[in-house]
Amino acid sequence: MASLAPQTSAPDPTDADLIAARPQLRRHAMDGLLLEDVPLNAIADALGTPTWVYSAGTLRSRLAELTTALAGLNCHIHYAVKANDHLAVLRIMRNGGAGADVVSCGELLRARKAGIDASRIVFSGVGKTESEIRLALSEGIYQLNVESPAELSMISAIAASMGRTADIVLRINPDVDAGTHAKITTGKADNKFGIPYGEAIALYAHASHLPGIRPQGLALHIGSQILSMAPYRAAFTRAADMIRFLRSAGHSVARMDCGGGLGIGYGDEPGASPAAFAGALRQVFGGMDLALATEPGRWLAAPAGVLLASVVLTKGDGRFMVLDAAMNDLIRPSMYDAWHGIVPVSANNGGIEREIDVVGPVCETGDTFARGRRMVPVPAGQRVAILDAGAYGAVMSSTYNSRPLAAIAMVDGGKWTTIRARQKLEALWDGEIIPDFTE
Ligand code: LLP
Repeated sequence: MASLAPQTSAPDPTDADLIAARPQLRRHAMDGLLLEDVPLNAIADALGTPTWVYSAGTLRSRLAELTTALAGLNCHIHYAVKANDHLAVLRIMRNGGAGADVVSCGELLRARKAGIDASRIVFSGVGKTESEIRLALSEGIYQLNVESPAELSMISAIAASMGRTADIVLRINPDVDAGTHAKITTGKADNKFGIPYGEAIALYAHASHLPGIRPQGLALHIGSQILSMAPYRAAFTRAADMIRFLRSAGHSVARMDCGGGLGIGYGDEPGASPAAFAGALRQVFGGMDLALATEPGRWLAAPAGVLLASVVLTKGDGRFMVLDAAMNDLIRPSMYDAWHGIVPVSANNGGIEREIDVVGPVCETGDTFARGRRMVPVPAGQRVAILDAGAYGAVMSSTYNSRPLAAIAMVDGGKWTTIRARQKLEALWDGEIIPDFTE
């Protein structure tokens, strides 16, 4: 299975390379690593570790960069809430002009709570339940992205019973390989997602006769952490061909939702370019008179977050560096073999670089953040920052090993504040009941 690690035999990028590639980070001789203008040690001193820290400025500037690249394309940004669903993050997205792409009642209500207008929300997902569809319709969201004939019938029946008309698009499966990790590839014919390309035209025609349904167009999403524009162009071209065919058959097709998936550079390599993505949209859909949309998550949020952890101890003659953060906090390395930069927060203590396994304390060998990483050992008690953890980080945390959910802070320029307190230990068993029959 392909790994998300940089696909190169080149040595790991140095701390200096990683920091230089990230405008939000810099190293101060006395204060150590700064996110924007805030020393990360100051946050760790106040809140302890593990702690997530998000950069408001980075979220704003990345959204602004993407918005600028898409200018003139009539393309809405629907931020994929699943990447980082914190209300403060959603508020920044809303204030930067983004809508939301949601996949559950929880995400929909979070987006609404953060002030995102229902008219800027799309609902994705391969198994929407009746209560999710009802909530989406009663809130009056912009559109539901339909992934199967069964779901289409459900939405029709529910909408008709509520006296509503659902604006829907059909998510097609274009059978395109996005060239990413198998677990986050979604646009191949044997993935569970979308409507098979060969069946979508007939379903669109069927949808146009269903009560409570107003077909508005098509959608696709071919995967995540995509770095090349070639798979996007291939998928968009298949969608554009279908739109032309549908229109020639007399159907109205007003919208094209192009999904998310833009990748970032987890090492010191560049990520996907918003300008190149906009170029692909322009090349394929330019002049087609469509309301375009995109659903980026990772590209906007990942570089804005770090996970701060302390070194508990080292063992095995320094081969293992055991952190107080674990796979329950950040599961990406365990789950996808993902490569994340790991840099010391305090200045180098004069140690000598060597190969280190950076691990968590959980009782599984998979609880490993990096294997054989060339780095200067960080002494016990000092901290490291695990980089690019702003997307699919805290949202995928669990309390495995009865480890409480970590605290979250947000920096903005030189200010910082707590945006989620560390979960209290007692909260771990909140809601649990010991029934009489266990006595
Ligand atoms: N739209 C749909 C329908 C999606 O399924 C996803 C992500 C997105 C948009 C946003 O994709 P993005 O722009 O963030 O790539 N947990 C994995 C990533 C899972 C992505 C799931 N779908 C990871 O940590 O790499």
